[in-house]
Amino acid sequence: MTTAVYPGSFDPCTNGHLDIIKRASKMFDKLIVAVLDNPEKKTPLFSVEERVEILKNITKDMDNIEIMSFSGLLVDFMKKQNSKVIVRGLRAVTDFEYEFQLALTNQKIGAGIETIFLSTTAEFMFLSSSTVKEVAKYGGDLSGMVTEEVAEKLKNRFSK
Ligand code: PNS
Repeated sequence: MTTAVYPGSFDPCTNGHLDIIKRASKMFDKLIVAVLDNPEKKTPLFSVEERVEILKNITKDMDNIEIMSFSGLLVDFMKKQNSKVIVRGLRAVTDFEYEFQLALTNQKIGAGIETIFLSTTAEFMFLSSSTVKEVAKYGGDLSGMVTEEVAEKLKNRFSK
């Protein structure tokens, strides 16, 4: 059985993330979506528990997906989950340098770990959690960018 891990901050999960989740889940027996719980990273808008809950709701009808959180090194988490495949999405050339550095570092420190990249679906090319948060902050229309549940959560968060 091949288990792949799709790691990220998912703060919050966008339709671009969801697209990668759906496509990657068809390629592996099991896909673990791993939410980074890193207190040192700049304070997220949603707590790790909230981000996990959002992802669990979004993927509740998909049966080979597990949502987990992790802290520390991704390669250590992968070892515990018995997985050697990292999935990452690529939107544009601008993503490449960072993703390549991450992939090579994980290759160096995680014996036998491979990273595979899925290109974005064109309609999500512009999308990121940061842009979604910015649109939400100023009350912009989020349709097509996130699920209704996420849009609602963003609206509530910024109305406080
Ligand atoms: O969605 P993001 O924020 O681009 O995801 C980045 C993530 C979570 C994949 C990356 O920061 C990560 O794996 N962090 C855990 C620490 C680690 O293993 N870093 C890689 C070696 S420096």
